[in-house]
Amino acid sequence: MHAPDGENRENTVQDTDITTLRILNSFAVDLISIPSVEDLFWYVAQNVVGRLKFNDCVIYQANDSQTELLQVAALGEKNPFGRNILNPLRIPFGNGITGQAAERREAIVVHDLKLDAHYITDTQQARSEICVPILCDNRVVGVIDSEHPEPNAFGDGELEVLITIAALTGAKLELLAEAERSQQRYHDLVEAHAQLSRESTNRKALEAELFNTRKLEAVGRLTGSFAHEFNNLFTVISGNLEFLEEDIPAGLPTETLNAAQTAAKRGVAVIQSMLAFSQRTRLNPQTTDLNTFIRSVADSSEYGAVKLDLAPDLRSVEVDLGVLEKVVANLLGNARDAMDSLGTITISTKNVSQGLHEQQTLSTTLLPGNYVRLSVSDSGTGIAQESLQQIFDPFYTTKPVGDGTGLGLSMVLGFMRQSGGTVEVKSDLGKGSTFHLYFPAE
Ligand SMILES: Nc1ncnc2c1ncn2[C@@H]1O[C@H](COP(=O)(O)OP(=O)(O)OP(=O)(O)O)[C@@H](O)[C@H]1O
Ligand SMILES: [Mg+2]
Repeated sequence: MHAPDGENRENTVQDTDITTLRILNSFAVDLISIPSVEDLFWYVAQNVVGRLKFNDCVIYQANDSQTELLQVAALGEKNPFGRNILNPLRIPFGNGITGQAAERREAIVVHDLKLDAHYITDTQQARSEICVPILCDNRVVGVIDSEHPEPNAFGDGELEVLITIAALTGAKLELLAEAERSQQRYHDLVEAHAQLSRESTNRKALEAELFNTRKLEAVGRLTGSFAHEFNNLFTVISGNLEFLEEDIPAGLPTETLNAAQTAAKRGVAVIQSMLAFSQRTRLNPQTTDLNTFIRSVADSSEYGAVKLDLAPDLRSVEVDLGVLEKVVANLLGNARDAMDSLGTITISTKNVSQGLHEQQTLSTTLLPGNYVRLSVSDSGTGIAQESLQQIFDPFYTTKPVGDGTGLGLSMVLGFMRQSGGTVEVKSDLGKGSTFHLYFPAE
């Protein structure tokens, strides 16, 4: 490539032109498959020195603020170690010939460095230098630099070749930047889509919950007024039966009276559950240590062995113990019904708190604050996802007629809400269920 003696140049111009064109062509074609900016700079340096036979080639990359050049690739005698730059040079824009080329955004050819004021002397003296800026999107992104130990080593041919190389490099850089932008856009899009579907899942869950709350409210009102009427009726019926008991009319078999009384008692129990569900029970809360309460429940349990996992230093709560007994009895009854004889029931207690942030939410229906959680877990059948929405509905039961009224969990929910807390269920089909009761605590 180098023709230091200008006289021979004309004879070989045509051959050189064709060879150079071929090299530039294949250089341009190979550029297409270069995957990264770093690879690109080394590839350019390799071609300038290797195929285009320049004595050396150093490539600098400009920083974003267009104030400094950093050596990113170097091939030739000064850097024989291939892709390894031990001490990359930093050159401020305007400094030396390289810095001048960057600042002026134009190629500079120095025919004799001894005569140039900008030359920064190096350990290995060079006599000629050529610097061509690489432009991308109208910004200086780098400089291609080559030196030669002889003066007048770079003529118009070399200049034209390096300008073409710089132009192709600039174009490729623009493509790489565009590819990165598209990748980023794609990534942003994927992220936005994920965010959207998270939000929509959240919204759907909230909507379902709102719907369920409204449904239970409506059913609660209806059940409440219905139960209220029946409660009055049962009070009259029970009163009359008691009255009769004192003075059994002749001819009335005692069994008939007993059957009527049993039926009335069941009726009262049902009505009480309905009142509890519609949060119309008159509660009589008292300060309670739930651990003590649970120990006594476990001791007298008719539901077989119950494992306990009770938190020390449990906060005390205000709760109506009479109703709580029925609540826990119902949860234990349900747990037992869902298991075979080998299953285990575990009751646990824990201090928990509901934060203001979404990450610290125990349940969407709880106000922020401290709670004591009482959990009843079983290793039974579990509850199918689609049934979870229904189990708290009054009269929802999967038990045979006569075995369950379907009011158990309804009264649990009503009672927990009326006590300022709530009940939540987690269930794994085939593995078991856990009912968490949350009681407000100081
Ligand atoms: N621990 C549990 N494991 C599996 N299913 C359960 C469990 N607890 C409740 N269920 C389901 O929820 C339904 C409703 O329970 P709920 O306590 O309200 O009524 P019930 O037990 O059927 O009748 P009742 O409590 O009036 O005797 C049950 O019939 C059952 O299908
Ligand atoms: Mg039940």
